[in-house]
Amino acid sequence: MITDDDDNSKSPRHALTFRYPLFVFGIPIRRFVLMLLGAFILLFVLYSINWKSLVPAKTSLNLQSGPKKPLKTIFVSLASYRDLFCMRTLQGVFQNAAHPERVFVGVVQQNSDRDPDCLTIENLDDSDNKKGLEKLIKYRSHIRSLKVDYKEAKGPVFARYLVVEKHYKGEDFIFQVDSHTMFAENWDDTLIENIERLPPKSCLSHYPLEFNWKTREKQNIWRSSVPRFCNGFYNNDGILQPSGSIFPIDRKSHEGPFLAAGMTFYPGAAHKEVPMDPYLKHLFHGEELLFGLRMAAHGYKFYSPSYNVCFHFYMRKEFPKSWDTDLRDEDYFTVQRQALHRAKYMMKMIPFEEVENSTYSLSELDKYGINWEDPEQSKNLQTYFTKFGINLKEKKIDDLCSKGLPSSY
Ligand SMILES: *[C@@H]1O[C@H](CO)[C@@H](O)[C@H](O)[C@H]1NC(C)=O
Repeated sequence: MITDDDDNSKSPRHALTFRYPLFVFGIPIRRFVLMLLGAFILLFVLYSINWKSLVPAKTSLNLQSGPKKPLKTIFVSLASYRDLFCMRTLQGVFQNAAHPERVFVGVVQQNSDRDPDCLTIENLDDSDNKKGLEKLIKYRSHIRSLKVDYKEAKGPVFARYLVVEKHYKGEDFIFQVDSHTMFAENWDDTLIENIERLPPKSCLSHYPLEFNWKTREKQNIWRSSVPRFCNGFYNNDGILQPSGSIFPIDRKSHEGPFLAAGMTFYPGAAHKEVPMDPYLKHLFHGEELLFGLRMAAHGYKFYSPSYNVCFHFYMRKEFPKSWDTDLRDEDYFTVQRQALHRAKYMMKMIPFEEVENSTYSLSELDKYGINWEDPEQSKNLQTYFTKFGINLKEKKIDDLCSKGLPSSY
């Protein structure tokens, strides 16, 4: 009995040391080793799965739906006037596209002999940007260029007319931007996804945020906020000019009253209904309003892009512009006034009698004008004017920045 008692008194201590021999983080070592092994196996399995093939990446949807559905193509319209940044813009177009193979660029360069050619990529300071340069070289055949002596330049509207007239070859979409624009990564996918989410006959447009070419920084709010048109103002010529505000990104596109000359993405099919007008030489303000009205007459609607896809270099005081005084044609003001008259007449802002040089100014109105007699066009415009509270004669527009924009998708 005594021995038994002794054994009993020993055994628990014994068992204790046997049952819990070593601890790692308070866990018995055997269990710990097993857990470690399990974790390694799990990590290895996770690592070897090709997640891309399981989760359809939004951006590659187009490719993955098979050979039946080819990539939609984009025509980038670049009118450049002695613009040193033209080649950087070109480089950005291809470097930042998700599918550069679907991108085509039409350039009209209005340069002097001393200005660097937009396509002379050897001039690019590419020390920090080998990839961009390689892509630019690879897709050089996608760039269609025309050179015009800067003294022959007839203003931005005429240059954009040349770009589309000479270079557009029926691509699915037209992307009109300024020749000093920087692009966000995958801008092409983002834009196409965006526009295909909207009803047919939609355009994406806004005044882009700023890009600083010296620091190479986008305006720092670009991931969180996006500019939208929601108001306008009448200038001294009685032309309604766009204005807007910056809104938090809500992933939606909001319907607005304007198209911006420096950033509009729209269906290529619109070019047939609303061809670029060659009779608006030296027109500046008025271009956006007229283009918008012509598009609205054909039932197009304008939306803010849901995300920022491109950025504008705004401060160009030190660079030449086609309206610089010393570079103006002798008849610059005459030509410009006549173009403005044409635009105003088309928009029913002035009567026929007030149009100067009407033989020229009112040429080919059936092709480039608005047909106010056409019930369809007239109804579309009425809808447009009512929606935004616009009355061009009474110089009115609703403040939709505070009232709210009419629709969103
Ligand atoms: C009318 O405009 C055209 C084109 O700019 C020009 O050739 C013509 O001389 C102008 N005529 C008058 C009277 O201004």
